[in-house]
Amino acid sequence: MIVGFLNQKGGVGKTTLSVNVAASLARRGGRVLLIDADPQGSSLDWAAAREAAPLLSVAGLPRPTLHKEIGQIGYGYDHVVIDGPPRVTDLARSAVMAADVVLIPTQPSPYDIWASDEVVKLIGEAIVFKEDLKYAFVINRKISNTSIGRDVREALAAYPDVPVFESSLTQRVIFAEAAARGLSVHEVDGAVRAVSEIEALTDELLEFAKLKEPA
Ligand SMILES: Nc1ncnc2c1ncn2[C@@H]1O[C@H](COP(=O)(O)OP(=O)(O)OP(=O)(O)O)[C@@H](O)[C@H]1O
Ligand SMILES: [Mg+2]
Repeated sequence: MIVGFLNQKGGVGKTTLSVNVAASLARRGGRVLLIDADPQGSSLDWAAAREAAPLLSVAGLPRPTLHKEIGQIGYGYDHVVIDGPPRVTDLARSAVMAADVVLIPTQPSPYDIWASDEVVKLIGEAIVFKEDLKYAFVINRKISNTSIGRDVREALAAYPDVPVFESSLTQRVIFAEAAARGLSVHEVDGAVRAVSEIEALTDELLEFAKLKEPA
């Protein structure tokens, strides 16, 4: 499976979800390649901050030709996870074209959801060439013990063709703390709830990727 965490809106959790889902897939025994398609190199920074033994391979490939190279680059891996760039449209377009599944991290505010317009448009363009492309929103930074508000549901309804994952991630300092040390949440103490959110997301992603019909 090739999954891209993509959204040109900055700071929505592309890197956080990429490294933790990649780690989850690796812990399940798969050979995993994490591609940093962001010129800022955040996933590379994550890998560089790491003192523990590597969990997975990380490669920096912020290139608009990623979709042409992905077959060769991803050869021999069970899963490829692409951490997408903010802003740069040609890189994001190439990452969409490279992916089997695009997950769009978004924060649970209508403004953040509406700011996903650009990536939704890129998906619409890509689907002409890739009928099987699957895509969905993933809510990140939910405030603990709150339900998704009505305004958020209304904003999501602006994209009737884009499903929303059941699983979501809560706002938790431990995501930032683990990232600063180049670790996934599985590897830090006291992250039981963060781990169960990442595991639920990864389970849902694996099921979603198997669906025959585009959702
Ligand atoms: N669920 C969360 N709980 C707490 N902090 C979070 C969560 N998700 C992301 N963050 C923090 O928010 C910041 C932005 O997250 P992240 O870097 O993953 O976003 P991004 O979409 O990759 O950003 P960019 O567009 O700059 O690449 C980071 O400091 C990260 O640690
Ligand atoms: Mg990032």
